[in-house]
Amino acid sequence: MQRSNAGTLTEAEVGQRVLLKAWLHRRRNLGGVMFLDLRDRSGLVQVVVHPENQPEAHAVLDPARPEWVIEVEGEVVRREAANVNPQMPTGAVEVAADRAEVLATSQTPPFVLDSYGEASEELRLRYRYLDLRRPELAHNFLLRDRVVTATRRFFAEHGFLDMETPVLTKSTPEGARDYLVPSREYPGQFYALPQSPQLFKQLLMVSGFERYYQIARCFRDEDLRADRQPEFTQVDVEMSFTDEEEIANLIEGLFAIIFPLAGIEIETPFPRLDYAEAMARYGSDRPDLRFGLEIVELTEILGESGFRGFSSAVAEGGVVRAFAVSGAANASRKMVDGWAEIARRAGAQGVLTLRRRDGELQFQVKTALSGDELTAAAEALELEDGGLALLAAGPREIVAKALGALRLELARHYSLIPEGRNAFVWVREFPFVEWDEAGNRWTALHHPFTSPDPRDLELLDSEPGRVRSRAYDVVMNGVELGGGSIRIHSADLQRQAFEILGIDEQEAESRFGFLLEALKYGAPPHGGIALGLDRIIMLMAGADSIRDVILFPKTASAACLMTEAPSPVDDAQLAELGLERKRKSEEK
Ligand code: AMO
Repeated sequence: MQRSNAGTLTEAEVGQRVLLKAWLHRRRNLGGVMFLDLRDRSGLVQVVVHPENQPEAHAVLDPARPEWVIEVEGEVVRREAANVNPQMPTGAVEVAADRAEVLATSQTPPFVLDSYGEASEELRLRYRYLDLRRPELAHNFLLRDRVVTATRRFFAEHGFLDMETPVLTKSTPEGARDYLVPSREYPGQFYALPQSPQLFKQLLMVSGFERYYQIARCFRDEDLRADRQPEFTQVDVEMSFTDEEEIANLIEGLFAIIFPLAGIEIETPFPRLDYAEAMARYGSDRPDLRFGLEIVELTEILGESGFRGFSSAVAEGGVVRAFAVSGAANASRKMVDGWAEIARRAGAQGVLTLRRRDGELQFQVKTALSGDELTAAAEALELEDGGLALLAAGPREIVAKALGALRLELARHYSLIPEGRNAFVWVREFPFVEWDEAGNRWTALHHPFTSPDPRDLELLDSEPGRVRSRAYDVVMNGVELGGGSIRIHSADLQRQAFEILGIDEQEAESRFGFLLEALKYGAPPHGGIALGLDRIIMLMAGADSIRDVILFPKTASAACLMTEAPSPVDDAQLAELGLERKRKSEEK
């Protein structure tokens, strides 16, 4: 007899005999009758065993406890009307078992699998293989499988080749620390695990493959957060003879196929915002467009006011900006103090409030602004009666960052994010470089292989900070899902870019010599993108953390609690690698 799936039995199967092999999810006895919920990958079904009608099956199952693996055979019967469970896909039926066998017993699990969230995450990570039995968590991986399958089909249909690049390789600069692997053949030398397949995919374009994709594991030793893991998966894409629009269209086409797998319908094309505009209007390079609270420029209106907080900031080249929130005029002193603290954490002096109550405009610093200035500012902000505006002044980037953080905070506080709404956006024309104060040098905003915007080429040497690049990100609900760029495909321009980034010729040669060489042999114009697969699944599944969509994730301190990795190795292994343990006294 063929085994049936527990989770798919419906009234259509009533009267059929079925064979189930599954885990005992929970059990209860009612007047001697045993009710067992059996669980397999497909879901749950209720099995009923009567002591009089099915004494043998009853005797076999009587000792069974949660997480035992059992086999039962019986007839699918309709439940009595009063017992139908509309919450359960199989809730209209049950299986009347007449034969049973225990396939495996189980110790009492360290936490209860049928009620969510009672056990600590630490305990659940230690017994991850048990946690993965929980239908809520398992569901994420069934979804992940469907997304990966659809993604592979999509790229195959669009002429992309699925290609694997090395994992034991040389450092790729993506802004994080490398994971290093010591070499036995070359004592004292190391491979780096790839932060991304960036350089290899560019070389595949030089090789003439034209369209590449890979579902690639990447490794980055960086501080972990809810949306970051030290090893994660990219849907990595590169194509020759392309441009920003073609890549955006391609990814929108992919999203239009995968997001509906989680019931999320999307509208394409996504809006496109230039970086400068995203920063000015939303204070972020990954703006959350599910709600308004747009930032408004008030520099002209208030920059020359008698209020020194504004006029001196503007005299020093800064800006005055603000955004308005309807219905927030009664925000308490304590709340405003909290918001000022958020602004200070972003580097600003604080924030100031402008309220409209009973038609009257009230600025936090009572007599600092004239009536005309207040009216003009309120008009620019479209400040309604009962509304509140938060104003900040100072250097452009700092004001943007502070108001960007406050925009998110107030949207959360006033519940302005509509349930079920999703907002995608492309952010384009990122700056080519940014100034790294600590390192006293320019660093690549994206990575050093991104092409500068040809319109800004003449600024490259004189004012690199004003050069735009051909980099773009795709953002959903304020989360960066992916990023990419059109690349530099000329060896000369690549050398020039390295020079601006303070990578001298010798260093460029030793780190990226193979790339510079390859660019001399007919490198086609090319570009691409990498999507963070884990983040995409996280958003699709509505999970709070990326850990819920990675099978065996690491903790915030980059440890695997189940295998206890990382772990010490013995001296013989170290000796073989030409490595020595520092004596305790030498350690800091
Ligand atoms: P980037 O560094 O922007 O680009 O990475 C692309 C996407 O990968 C995801 N991501 C991560 N996800 C989980 N944990 C992490 N630690 C992590 N780091 C990044 C994000 C991000 O948008 N080589 C370039 C791509 C290109 O230019 O084609 C790159 O790696 O979703």
